[in-house]
Amino acid sequence: MAFDTIITNGRVVTATDTYVGDIAIREGKIVAIGQGLPRDNAAKIIDAGGRHVFPGGIDVHTHLDMPFGGTTSSDDFETGTRAAAFGGTTTLIDFAIQYKGQTLRTALDGWLRKAESKAVSDYSFHCIITDLASAQLEEMNALVRDGVTSFKLFMAYPGVFMLDDATIFKALQASGKNGGLVCMHAENGGAIDVIVQQALAEGKKAPKYHALTRPTTAEAEATARAIALAEMAGAPVYIVHLSCDDALEKVREARDRGLPVYAETCPQYLYLSIENFDVPGFDGAKYVFTPPLREKWHQERLWNGLKRDHLQVVSTDHCPFCFKEQKELGRDDFTKIPNGGPGIEHRLSLIYSGGVAAGRFSVNRFVELVSTTPAKLFGLYPRKGTIAVGSDADLVIFDSGRKHIISATNHHMRVDYSMFEGVEVTGMPETVLSRGRVIVDGNKFLGRPGSGEFLRRSTYAQP
Ligand code: URP
Ligand code: ZN
Ligand code: ZN
Repeated sequence: MAFDTIITNGRVVTATDTYVGDIAIREGKIVAIGQGLPRDNAAKIIDAGGRHVFPGGIDVHTHLDMPFGGTTSSDDFETGTRAAAFGGTTTLIDFAIQYKGQTLRTALDGWLRKAESKAVSDYSFHCIITDLASAQLEEMNALVRDGVTSFKLFMAYPGVFMLDDATIFKALQASGKNGGLVCMHAENGGAIDVIVQQALAEGKKAPKYHALTRPTTAEAEATARAIALAEMAGAPVYIVHLSCDDALEKVREARDRGLPVYAETCPQYLYLSIENFDVPGFDGAKYVFTPPLREKWHQERLWNGLKRDHLQVVSTDHCPFCFKEQKELGRDDFTKIPNGGPGIEHRLSLIYSGGVAAGRFSVNRFVELVSTTPAKLFGLYPRKGTIAVGSDADLVIFDSGRKHIISATNHHMRVDYSMFEGVEVTGMPETVLSRGRVIVDGNKFLGRPGSGEFLRRSTYAQP
């Protein structure tokens, strides 16, 4: 059998196994795995000796080209998927926003148009629902049939995205029947709004008040309510961007009761804390995202949650806004700072470094968190999320010994600062393949805008 590419002698890592072997690729798929596979009929040979080979990273929470907070997130589907590729992420699930009065299909079509000529690697969408009249409730089933099998609902951002409990409950009931998975932004938006208005009235307008007006209890309460609504509706639920121990406890309790409750956290909650607001002037705006940064002690609880499977996924919630002209919109009032931070590029290195290199969990657990479980929960497995015969050849050759200092001066995201400026990581992607094509080779980008494909997903499967 002729191979397009063969990757030789890498330390192949999946969620369950680690072994040294060769991976052969033809027409974008893995067609053979073994030791000493014949090299003579391979068009291209990539030597991965001494390096790990991981399945491509899957980031299930990104916001590319998203209008928000009076501006638009600064990475589009070209710059965002390119930066993701440099970081070893080869599949994204972004969000198609349904604005009030729109059909869900209109929302999806709009986001498909944004991505199709730009994405350099594969992508899919969750649909954000902001308006659920009976027509859209019906449409949820059609979307699931068309491969958009997850939805994001908001319990926060009143007047923009927030839904009431009745609407949330109806959406959960629908997803319980049609096999979809609801992703929940769990914060008590009503209570937070009262606290925010009180802070503004007291003249508290600096960036750090974004964090101080969103208590952990508001996240824990909404997390518990989301779980209760899902339990009543007989549906699974996935809590997005979980930031604190209080909310984690709610997820852990529910999972201990055997409920299909899942949660992700993001690198910013593992590496940064409320202390990041102790910077001069308006620089704290770089850390304004939602939920906000917490006290430092939460970080170790979240790492422990990842290790013990109380948390199942690490995503980025990549929602970049430049400091100049975008974050600056809120110079006089923290409520006008566009919420979001850039992180799409560094998820694998940060989690490998803090998780595996720091001895918190195994390299197999790392793969599970950044690739395999996201694929399973969101209907992409086994096409994505593993290294197996028949799977897409989305692969990352990873140098686990290489040290790198994260900086806006060397990153590939289209944003003028880094949340992780100066953080040293151990472990960096070296070569990245998307469906068999090398798209990153060292510091060279070899991908092509428009070569990424929209992925129709299956319904949620219990991981
Ligand atoms: O601050 C954030 N997280 N911005 C993106 C929107 C969201 O809530 O996920
Ligand atoms: Zn959110
Ligand atoms: Zn988000």
